[in-house]
Amino acid sequence: MNVPNCEISGLIEFLVRARAAPVNPSHFKGLIGKGYGLEYLADIVRNALFVSKGHRENVAVSLVLERSKDFSRVIRFSGASLGSFKDLHETAILNRIFDALCAAEKLKKNEELKENEGVFVSAQSFEAYFSSKIQTQTPYLLDKKGQDIRLVTFEPEPLFLLTDHTPMPRNSKKSLLKSGISAVSVGPTILHSSQCIAVVLNELDRKSI
Ligand SMILES: C[S@@+](CC[C@H](N)C(=O)[O-])C[C@H]1O[C@@H](n2cnc3c(N)ncnc32)[C@H](O)[C@@H]1O
Repeated sequence: MNVPNCEISGLIEFLVRARAAPVNPSHFKGLIGKGYGLEYLADIVRNALFVSKGHRENVAVSLVLERSKDFSRVIRFSGASLGSFKDLHETAILNRIFDALCAAEKLKKNEELKENEGVFVSAQSFEAYFSSKIQTQTPYLLDKKGQDIRLVTFEPEPLFLLTDHTPMPRNSKKSLLKSGISAVSVGPTILHSSQCIAVVLNELDRKSI
């Protein structure tokens, strides 16, 4: 079953910057369970896309893995075209990320490929991906110090920026805020990224009542 979100009929995207996550597939696999926080990426994908009996077809989640000798890799899971996603446990989702990294090993700068139904991977930086997205979508920075999400009227195609467990580089945050991006808070407690995503989607669901 696909679950539309009524308040926002267009795409809702979460862009997650994972600064310490390696793009090399065997390096990625080797660090799972070793205290590098890669498991958070599975929680992020699960909370962004899946509900009890299906998935959200108007949501995408893009993970930018930045530890690389050449280019970052952006892995985008798109609810609109998601194929079979049989298992939702942590290992299964991490394996999907691993598969996408394997498929993307030989990508040249800015190339993108479809790794599977609803799974796309490209070789580009966070900045390049962000710049291309904001041509059609409105960005919001998820930040504890931002405006209360309950007071925000969202534009039709919101793009929510956040990091995994690693902080946003200070200069990036400064320049994003300087560019006029709205900062949005989901409350006074610093949450895990996956929890923020669940709260954002819940708030958007509730606005549609
Ligand atoms: C686990 S937090 C990152 C914690 C990291 N140590 C730091 O200081 O930035 C991951 C992301 O969740 C988002 N976040 C966490 N709590 C939030 C809140 N209360 N409101 C809005 N965004 C929040 C921020 O975007 C943050 O980058």
